[in-house]
Amino acid sequence: MKQPEPQLKTLDRYLSKAGLGSRTEARSWIGSGRVKVNGRLIQTPDHWVDMARDKVTLDGKPVAQAERRYVLLYKPKGYITTYKDPEGRPTVYQLLKGVDQFLGTVGRLDLDTSGLLLMTNDTAMAEEVTNPAHKLEKTYLVKAATLLTDEQLDQLRNGIELSDGPTLPAQVKRVRDAGKHTFLEITITEGRNRQVRRMLEALDSKVLKLVRVRIGPLTLEGLTIGQWRELTPAEITQIKKKPKPKGTS
Ligand code: URA
Repeated sequence: MKQPEPQLKTLDRYLSKAGLGSRTEARSWIGSGRVKVNGRLIQTPDHWVDMARDKVTLDGKPVAQAERRYVLLYKPKGYITTYKDPEGRPTVYQLLKGVDQFLGTVGRLDLDTSGLLLMTNDTAMAEEVTNPAHKLEKTYLVKAATLLTDEQLDQLRNGIELSDGPTLPAQVKRVRDAGKHTFLEITITEGRNRQVRRMLEALDSKVLKLVRVRIGPLTLEGLTIGQWRELTPAEITQIKKKPKPKGTS
């Protein structure tokens, strides 16, 4: 009978997948001689580990792979999405009270953006759904610094030239005009750095307020700012589901 393919991971990834810490932290443990594989001291983070067979220890204690967790956080403005900030600003990790495993963010939100942030230790799922080919829709509520014309909204819809290439078509809805500002809802399937802010800047406007109100099937409903909840099994299945090619039902 054919043997199953071994599931290989680098040692730093293996430790971070186990929910013990970030890959950066894992590399420092490995470098400082705290990690053994099958009883042998390994000090190179790129060492390959067979998930099914190899026995890994940290400070002599066996490392077990963590249970998968999927958390949806309502990120407040003023929190960064990296694990540690050299400037000491608050991080989203300080809001995950009661979560013992290390969860990575699925995409990022800027310091000044609030709204939905998905976090998980399922790195395969995170990689899959952040790939633009997965076409996971993210909807943002935007307060623009100016009033925007219908032509400008069409430009956002059709794709806008940014320094890293044109944006893919977006769904754009004018919510209302109030005083000197247009409020709009924009849905994109990419997740480039500061994408919505740069799209507005390309129109000679600016984002004054940005809230991510939807990720695929997930909305802010039921969450207050700073709060998190687990995804339901049905939501996990929906998020992972590959989008159907256009024109099929
Ligand atoms: N687009 C942005 O400009 N910022 C975010 O945080 C998310 C999307």
